[in-house]
Amino acid sequence: MSMIAAVVLAAGKGTRMKSDRIKVLHEVAGQPMLAWPLAAAREADARELVVVVGHQAEQVREHLAGEPGVRIAVQEEQLGTGHAVACALPEVSEDNAPVLILCGDTPLLTGATLQRLVEAHHAGGAAVTVLTARFDNPFGYGRIVRDAAGNVRRIVEQKDSTPEEAAITEVNSGIYCMDLAFLRAHINRLGSENAQNEYYLTDLVAIAVAEHHRCIAVEAEDPREIMGVNDRQQLAYAGHLLRQRINSRLMRDGVTLIDPERTYIDAGVVIGPDTEIWPGCVLQGRTVIGRGCLLESSVQVCDCTVGDRSHLKSGSVLEGAVLHAGVAVGPMAHLRPGTVLHDEVKIGNFVEIKKAVLGVGSKASHLTYLGDAEIGRDVNVGCGTITCNYDGVNKHRTVIGDRVFVGSDVQLVAPVTVGDGALIAAGTTVTRDVPPDSLAIARTPQVNKEGWCLRHKKG
Ligand code: UD1
Ligand code: CA
Repeated sequence: MSMIAAVVLAAGKGTRMKSDRIKVLHEVAGQPMLAWPLAAAREADARELVVVVGHQAEQVREHLAGEPGVRIAVQEEQLGTGHAVACALPEVSEDNAPVLILCGDTPLLTGATLQRLVEAHHAGGAAVTVLTARFDNPFGYGRIVRDAAGNVRRIVEQKDSTPEEAAITEVNSGIYCMDLAFLRAHINRLGSENAQNEYYLTDLVAIAVAEHHRCIAVEAEDPREIMGVNDRQQLAYAGHLLRQRINSRLMRDGVTLIDPERTYIDAGVVIGPDTEIWPGCVLQGRTVIGRGCLLESSVQVCDCTVGDRSHLKSGSVLEGAVLHAGVAVGPMAHLRPGTVLHDEVKIGNFVEIKKAVLGVGSKASHLTYLGDAEIGRDVNVGCGTITCNYDGVNKHRTVIGDRVFVGSDVQLVAPVTVGDGALIAAGTTVTRDVPPDSLAIARTPQVNKEGWCLRHKKG
């Protein structure tokens, strides 16, 4: 089988999104919409991907930078889908290969459906193979016009249709597999004499038929796959369906989701078996969660690695953190980028951590801020401890050795180093380094004024 190329049309603005951002860069289930058809094309073995850009071309280009095998074709003016494909063809190099033509706004399309399309195209010896679907309400779509024998004759757009044609329920998905030589030979024959004065790609069907090329239609097994996203409601619905797919896959792979309808997991997230996830969790980006973890309700995790058997308690927010095995976090803790928690670390209520490493078995159980810090193993960080890392101009580091006991309400004014085995008394403001195995204590001596309250009582 020859190599397959794919052309993805993404030059339109997407006016109905009512957005400053081009439609195909809006995110669906954690990825820009455009990433979905590209992934489907790759699954169908398309090696060469040409994306047609126009509106906000720079932003789309930026987004696609570094994507292997992707080339960009610019369509300066949006003169129609046929014109868009004509702009793409000079960038398509594989000769005689079939070309998949996709839209940037159909995120639900699967690689499996594209594979079926390509197989049918080869098996049928077709020049043009159209992916179709049947809709009870086909309004707005192009309709597939067949002859009495059931052969595809042409596609008619909603705006150009007669009432009889408008009654056809088989619609054009806008997704095709076409012979490249046929495309190159005929793309410039499209005219724009139609209701929208556009060069319709769909007219290639009638051209193929007139020249006795084979033109066939493949019906999508699930018509929802071809659903285009045009507005925010469809965006939400597409996200809903994609999350259902993601969640079903995870459950098949052994992840327990207490309420999959209320669990929001991005496509790229990896989760090990026997991990249990409670409702309201949001897992984003390049997050990897190990086996046997428990994520309680409303935990948000973005771009983190979480080791096996870890326990993330309700309401915690984790961004760019690395957790080793058996770590406990929360409830309501905030781990920010650069946080590294080694095995069996325990982080409790209302603790914020940023750019800080905690060694094996260390604990910060309550109301603490640890920033720009390096903390050894088996350290106990008492309630209310604060690393004073910022002097208003620069950030400074706090280094704490192994087996240090930091009492409650301690401020560590960085830069400062606390040696192994030291003890810092509650209420101490540490401004100088503490040698190993020493007690540091800095408190104003307490004065008790006996009877003072009785003397000052009102009334
Ligand atoms: C198109 C089909 C219609 C089909 C429908 C499926 C045509 C003429 N009609 O209609 O039969 O049922 O898709 O969703 O092809 N684009 C460009 N440059 C352009 C015009 C469009 O890149 O000059 C891109 C758009 O960004 C979009 C895609 O092509 O991603 C489809 O264009 P759109 O205008 O939405 O076509 P429809 O009217 O929906
Ligand atoms: Ca459309």
